[in-house]
Amino acid sequence: MKWRQLLVLTAVRAARIAHGQTLEDVLTSQAATLSTLNSWLLSEELIFEVMSNAQGITLLAPSNNAISQLYNTALATQLATDPNLLTAFLSYHVLNGVYQMSDFTSNRLGSFPTFMNMAGYSNVSGGQTIETLSENGAVTFITGNGAETNVETYDFKYAGGTLHIIDSVLTIPGSVTDTLLSGGRTAAVGALRRAGIEDALNAASDVTIFVPTNDAFNAIGSTVNSMTLEQLTQVLNYHIIQGKVLYSQLISGGSEATREGNSINFRLGGGSLFVNSARIVDSDILVGNGVVHVVDNVLNPSNTTATPVTTASTQAPAFDGATTTTGGVPFTSAVVTTTTTSTSTHTGTATATASATGATSSGDPSALDSAAADTTIRAVVALGGVRAGWTVFWASCLAAAGDGWLGAGRVSALAMCASLASLWYL
Ligand SMILES: *[C@@H]1O[C@H](CO)[C@@H](O)[C@H](O)[C@H]1NC(C)=O
Ligand SMILES: *[C@@H]1O[C@H](CO)[C@@H](O)[C@H](O)[C@H]1NC(C)=O
Repeated sequence: MKWRQLLVLTAVRAARIAHGQTLEDVLTSQAATLSTLNSWLLSEELIFEVMSNAQGITLLAPSNNAISQLYNTALATQLATDPNLLTAFLSYHVLNGVYQMSDFTSNRLGSFPTFMNMAGYSNVSGGQTIETLSENGAVTFITGNGAETNVETYDFKYAGGTLHIIDSVLTIPGSVTDTLLSGGRTAAVGALRRAGIEDALNAASDVTIFVPTNDAFNAIGSTVNSMTLEQLTQVLNYHIIQGKVLYSQLISGGSEATREGNSINFRLGGGSLFVNSARIVDSDILVGNGVVHVVDNVLNPSNTTATPVTTASTQAPAFDGATTTTGGVPFTSAVVTTTTTSTSTHTGTATATASATGATSSGDPSALDSAAADTTIRAVVALGGVRAGWTVFWASCLAAAGDGWLGAGRVSALAMCASLASLWYL
C-alpha cells in the first residue's frame, strides 16, 4: 500500500471512531437488498473507506433489483463510456443534506437538492433536485421524465449521514426539448423553434416554464398561425419565468414576472392550480435547467386579467375570437416525437405524464475498459484538483485502479471515485 493511501485511511478511521455506525455496518446488515452495491464497494477497500468518509449526505442506494434492471439498459452502455455522465448519475443519488423519512413525509410534495451540479447536466442553482411525493406514509421520488422510484426501506443512519434503499435508479432530468418531446408536447417545441428561442431556453439557468398542451395550441390555431415571429416570441416568453425554479408546492397564489415583461397570476381553486385562466394539468416535470408545468390554455400577455371558472373542466381560450383551423395542430408538422408516453397521476391536482426513457439495447457497465477508466479519472480530476485532500484522494484512486479492479466491481469502484470526487469538488 502506498503512503498516500495510508494517509487517507488514517483520516477516515479517525472519523469512524468518532461517529459510531459506519456505512459498512449498514451495508452488511442489509445484505438481502444491498449485496450487489456492497460487493461493488467491498471489491476495493480504499473506495469503500473514502465513501464512508463523506459527511452530511443522504445516500439513495439502489437495491439489487434496481441495479440488475440497469444492466439491461442503454443507460448502462452510456455510463460505461461517458465518464461525465457517470459522475452526474452518481452524484444525483446523493442528497445534499441529511434527510430522514420524516423529512419526506412531512409534506405531500417536496424537492430536495442533490450533488449533481455539473453544467452539462444541471443548470439549477444549488444542484438539481429530486421531487418527493408522500402518500399514506409511502414516499416516491420523482425524477427526469416523471420517472418514479419508490423507497423500500429507510433511515439507516451512519457516521456520514443516512441511507435509504430505492427500487430503481434515478433518471437525470433531460433538456427542455427532450423532455417535452418525450411527453408529446410537439406544438410547444414547434412554436419555440418557429420563434427561434428553443436553444436559448435550453441553455438558460433556473427556469420555470408553463407549457400549453397540443389541444391548447389547437384551440387558438387561427390566432397563432397569423402571428408575426415577434408576437409569437412575446406569447412564448410570457410562459417563462427566468431565475426562479417554482415547484408546484411553492405556488399558492400571487403573481410572478415573466420573461415577456408582464406578470402571470396564480390561483388555487377546485382542487387545481391555475395560471391566469389556464389549469395546470401536469405539474413538476423536472428538466435540466428547472421545472415544467403543463397548462391547458395558451397564456396571452395582452390578457393578464383572464380568470378561470374553477368549477368548469375546461376554460375559454385567453385569445378573444380564436378558433381551431382545419390545418391540424399548429407548429407540429416538422416536430417528430420518438418515444411513447404513459400517464400516471402522482400529483393529484395535476396529473403527470411519465415516459419511458427508451432504454432497450443491452449493455453492461462492467464493459468499462481501462481506457475509459483513465478517461473517467482524468475527467473528474479536470473538474477541480484544487481542493485540499483531493489530489491525495485521486492518487489513491489511480493506484487502486492500477491494482486491477475486475468486472462490475471495477466499474463500481470507478463510479464511487467519480461520485466522491464530485462531493469533494462541490
Ligand atoms: C447549461 O447551460 C450551458 C450553458 O448555457 C448549456 O450549454 C448546457 O446545455 C445547459 N445544461 C442543462 C442541463 O441545462
Ligand atoms: C381574455 O380571456 C378570457 C378567458 O379567460 C376570454 O374570455 C377573453 O375573450 C379574453 N380577452 C381578450 C381581449 O383576449
